[in-house]
Amino acid sequence: MIGDNSPFNLDGKCAVVTGGTKGLGRAIVEALASHGARVHTCARTEADVDACVAEWRARGLDVTGSACDVSSRASRADLCARASDLFRGKVDILVSNVGFNTRKPTVDFTPEEYRALMDVNLESSFALCQLFHPLLVKSRDGCVLFNSSVASLVSMQSGVVYAMTKAAMNMLTKYLACEWAKDGIRVNAVAPWYINTPLAKQVLADPVYAKAVIDATPAGRVGEPEEVGAASAFLCSRAASYVTGQVLAIDGGFSVNGWKPPTKKLPASKL
Ligand SMILES: NC(=O)c1ccc[n+]([C@@H]2O[C@H](COP(=O)([O-])OP(=O)(O)OC[C@H]3O[C@@H](n4cnc5c(N)ncnc54)[C@H](OP(=O)(O)O)[C@@H]3O)[C@@H](O)[C@H]2O)c1
Repeated sequence: MIGDNSPFNLDGKCAVVTGGTKGLGRAIVEALASHGARVHTCARTEADVDACVAEWRARGLDVTGSACDVSSRASRADLCARASDLFRGKVDILVSNVGFNTRKPTVDFTPEEYRALMDVNLESSFALCQLFHPLLVKSRDGCVLFNSSVASLVSMQSGVVYAMTKAAMNMLTKYLACEWAKDGIRVNAVAPWYINTPLAKQVLADPVYAKAVIDATPAGRVGEPEEVGAASAFLCSRAASYVTGQVLAIDGGFSVNGWKPPTKKLPASKL
């Protein structure tokens, strides 16, 4: 529990988090709710939403949920209408978390694969921001958080279209931070590296690949969903009241880890 006067306290804040039934979205829902926020979340699979909401409510977390496909315009409008009803026309925190990846060489992408990544990862975030803007303005202390990726910062063979969607999301973060500051809205993004989620676990099941990931990470391990949740709760809280337009890498140092010399000890003259 967070103390009443703590700048990390989210008591009274109303939050919407997309894709909250699994992985990082789930960790973000739990972090915001355990810091005191009322949270509404969504996913496409209604049974998962219902099961998660029941579990959270049993744990005393103030979370509701509904089915929504963020790549559908009608479904996004329904999500916004529900949140508006639930929170009486005001939303303090919007977390656009949903995203997926297709990994393949650039020349192999079909137009359909390209379109799906753009729709789900990027256009949905842009459109949700447009839809929720009036509700965030009513907050007078609004906050948007995007779930980007370190693939937006450095080339890492993640699949170019995924990286493009996340890099554009970073620019959306910076642009909206400037445009919406006058509305009292801060806009930031988290950029995780490998985090132990169902999506990442599939890739990390290959031990050779997993070792390469660990070797490239100064912290010597992959991240945990709770670590993304905690950083997200910070960015959505009063503790980050002067932080806007930032993309925070949550990566154990991966994105600042430059070239490594082949030997551990270099002659003094070469240092
Ligand atoms: N995991 C990592 O290591 C990692 C690293 C960097 C960045 N990220 C980013 O973090 C975000 C979440 O990734 P994750 O690994 O937590 O994913 P995940 O484990 O696959 O969970 C995705 C969540 O979003 C929901 N969802 C998927 N498509 C949706 C749609 N069209 N509309 C509404 N909900 C949808 C899923 O439920 P349904 O399937 O029922 O819809 C689920 O709740 C993504 O933006 C990803 O790019 C993840």
